[in-house]
Amino acid sequence: MEDISKINKQRLPKHIAIIMDGNGRWAKQKGKLRVFGHKNGVKAVRDVVEGSAEIGVKVLTLYAFSTENWNRPKAEVDVLMNLLVSSLKKELKLLQDNNIRLQAIGNLEKLPKKAKRELEEVIQITKNNTHLVLNLAISYSAKEEIVNAFKKISKKIVNNELSIEEIDENIINNHLYTRNLPDVDLVIRTSGEKRISNFLLWQIAYAELYFTDLFWPDFRKTHLIQAILDYQQRERRFGKTSDQLKNNE
Ligand code: IPE
Ligand code: IPE
Ligand code: MG
Repeated sequence: MEDISKINKQRLPKHIAIIMDGNGRWAKQKGKLRVFGHKNGVKAVRDVVEGSAEIGVKVLTLYAFSTENWNRPKAEVDVLMNLLVSSLKKELKLLQDNNIRLQAIGNLEKLPKKAKRELEEVIQITKNNTHLVLNLAISYSAKEEIVNAFKKISKKIVNNELSIEEIDENIINNHLYTRNLPDVDLVIRTSGEKRISNFLLWQIAYAELYFTDLFWPDFRKTHLIQAILDYQQRERRFGKTSDQLKNNE
């Protein structure tokens, strides 16, 4: 068990983004149906959200459902959507008790009405909470997010609200779903897969990547601490040399 006291509070990743993968394989390993894995994945979510609040992480983005996941069998998609609704209902108290603000990124128009309504309600109720932003990526595609940003920016140019010369990284940032959030410092992916799967492409430009073989339903706060400790061992050079960093150049 990793101990929270080992974490250097001065070097915390501000924004952690997690690709919660391996629910289906976790269930299969136990001779159960895939949906059993999804149900047990909720426990991991709860533990990691609580852990992030305790550690003092400012933003936690969880990849819950990709636009590509709409192509799964309808029965599985239905279970995932129902789980979203029931978890939001059940975990509202956890969010309030820990001063956590819920936010969502993705094409929420595609969600079943009930899920969208529940999500919007919890976002509204928690909107003044300040300790941690829990950002759920649902029906999310990074490429679609970038396409949408292009469209919004183009519209402003056509309407003479913006000139081409004014376009810079800041402008692009401000047209993404994550406009109010800092860039990602640490990406964690469970289940042994080493890919990004259309998750936050722009925002992870300089993130540290951490992969673990654990399936998502087995992931707990102690594993989050392990990932943060690993992150804190790394030297983020941002293109400079190690010597430059040591001399504070
Ligand atoms: C992650 O687990 C949850 C979602 C993508 C919704 P998977 O359902 O992808 O589980 P595996 O990868 O098939 O084991
Ligand atoms: C990525 O997992 C999406 C989520 C974790 C929600 P997938 O299991 O859908 O990713 P691929 O298809 O294996 O890349
Ligand atoms: Mg998967």
